[in-house]
Amino acid sequence: MPRKLVLDVDTGTDDAVALMLAALHPDLELLAATTVNGNVEVAHCTDNTLRVLEWIGRPDIPVYEGLARPIARCDFPTPRAAKRDAKVHMEVLPLPEAKGRKQRLPAPVFLTEVFAQNPGEIALVAVGPLSNVAAAIALDPAFVGNVAELMIMGGAIDKSNVTPSAEFNIWADPEAAAVVLGAGWRKATMVPLDAIHEALISLDQCRRLRALSSPAGEAAAQLIEYRIAGYQANQPTGVPDTAPVHDALCIAALVDEKVIATRHLNVVVETKGEYTIGRTVVDHERRTSRPANCHVALHADRDRFFDILLANFAKRA
Ligand code: RIB
Ligand code: CA
Repeated sequence: MPRKLVLDVDTGTDDAVALMLAALHPDLELLAATTVNGNVEVAHCTDNTLRVLEWIGRPDIPVYEGLARPIARCDFPTPRAAKRDAKVHMEVLPLPEAKGRKQRLPAPVFLTEVFAQNPGEIALVAVGPLSNVAAAIALDPAFVGNVAELMIMGGAIDKSNVTPSAEFNIWADPEAAAVVLGAGWRKATMVPLDAIHEALISLDQCRRLRALSSPAGEAAAQLIEYRIAGYQANQPTGVPDTAPVHDALCIAALVDEKVIATRHLNVVVETKGEYTIGRTVVDHERRTSRPANCHVALHADRDRFFDILLANFAKRA
């Protein structure tokens, strides 16, 4: 039986690749996508998500819009101004306008309801700022216990991408991330930048995706090529003609746990430091007695990841 999941996104070029993989993989049943302020304003995240799902022939997957601002820092800079990486994401993805519309229910309400109706049966994969997940926790004390497993793209140990200390998804709503990581899930996995940068996608691999001549293959090639150009210009990866495709790695790891290598560790989020807001403090040397709360991906298998993309993007819905 396919594994059921809900995907929380801030679409976003890499979120788009994650959505396509989650919607097309035969071992997964994507019940819904929820959107959150992040790479672009939430209304654009919703519109982009609808475009992606229609482009690959999955307009049946409902999209719920969530928080337009972080849970505590309503005066935080707008995502684009803060992230300064318009060369990696686009306000509007280059796909045909969507015919479908978002659902009426706000994303955090939908999250509490769908997990309450299926306790312990659905995975939640969150690949944007954690505002919706924190709001769902605040709405329903039973929410955390109803989630079979949480997988997040976020955080970093030795790397960073928005300040010298922090990764974007955690930095963009640090109070939400602190609540989520401290919530006591049945199982939580964090895929940080360190693992993701071991699974970079190259221009040559984009050519192989395009050669599939499928909607997903063509869109993935175009979006990842755009990312590669942006990364090489602004934040080179150290490997020529490559870029990380963060969010898609989480989906690949959900279907094949060998895609990442994890350790069960304690992770907390810095919310006060003058220079360190949004830092994930990973106790990988076990310097504290704080209990392990998260399976942290320390490594990733680049070939395994790409093989999953290639095998599943050949398909049509
Ligand atoms: O830091 C990378 C993460 O931030 C990715 O999820 C990207 O889509 C943005 O949300
Ligand atoms: Ca994202």
